[in-house]
This record gives sequence, C-alpha cells and structure tokens, in this order.
Amino acid sequence: PELLLLNGPNLNLLGTREPGIYGSDTLVDIERRIGEQCQAAGAGFSAFQTNAEHALIDRIHQAGREGVDFILINPGAWTHTSIALRDALLGVGIPFIEIHISNVHARESFRRQSYLADVAVGVISGLGVHGYELALQAALRRFEDGPR
Ligand code: DQA
Repeated sequence: PELLLLNGPNLNLLGTREPGIYGSDTLVDIERRIGEQCQAAGAGFSAFQTNAEHALIDRIHQAGREGVDFILINPGAWTHTSIALRDALLGVGIPFIEIHISNVHARESFRRQSYLADVAVGVISGLGVHGYELALQAALRRFEDGPR
C-alpha cells in the first residue's frame, strides 16, 4: 500500500513549539521514523507539511490521482475550522486517521470540535508523538488483513 503522512499548520515548529504540550521531537524525526517503519513493512511512503490550507487541499487531490491508499493526518488547527479540508478528504475518498499529539479534549473547548472526526477511520489524541506510530500500525494492519 501507498501511505501519505500529512501535517497542517505550525507542525513544522515541532521540537520548539510549546514543548510542554507537544514534546521535543521535530517533524523531521517523526517523518523519518514513520518512513522507516513503512519501508520495513513494504509500504510506500510520502510526507507533506504546509501552513497553507490550499496547498494541503491540492496535495490531497494529488493523492487521489496517485492512488494513495491511506492518509495519516494531523490537521492542526484546521481540524477545528476547515469544511474545505473535510470536503477534500471526502472528495478523493481516501480513508484516513486523524492524529493529535495533545489531548484535544483536555484543552480549550474550541479544540473539541472536529470537522473530520466523524468521517475518519479513527482518531488518536493525547498520546504524544507516539500517536503517529500507533496510527501507522492501525493503517498497516488494515492492509495485512484486507480492508474492513
Ligand atoms: C494538534 C491540536 C490542535 O488543536 C492544534 O491546533 C495543533 C496541534 C495536536 O497535534 O495536538 O496545531 O493537532
């Protein structure tokens, strides 16, 4: 399978951004780990981060044309704001897991609203950067056992 890891706004600042909430790993660390684990599992992997909403939507459309099988996405603050992001994911029909490093339910109330969660395969929140690896394991398992 072909997997795509997407990260939204401000996640390029991981490592220095509010380390008490988001930890000290950088996005490069995370992308490298996920890439290595995909390679070990025989899965294709690409990663993309952007601070521009239209760029993320364009990348999702591209994933649709490329035949990407599964998306792992930390949409950052667009989780709570973007109907356009929801429509892009629904538009290409690629299954995805929504990842949050922090526990969005234990923070400001506006972070509890997600425009994606009800159309995601699942949501991982509050397990730190380990959440990316847990999401990958869940994604890979779907392809081992066939779609469910
Ligand atoms: C986040 C949570 C969002 O509320 C926030 O806007 C982010 C990061 C997380 O990974 O915990 O940018 O998605």
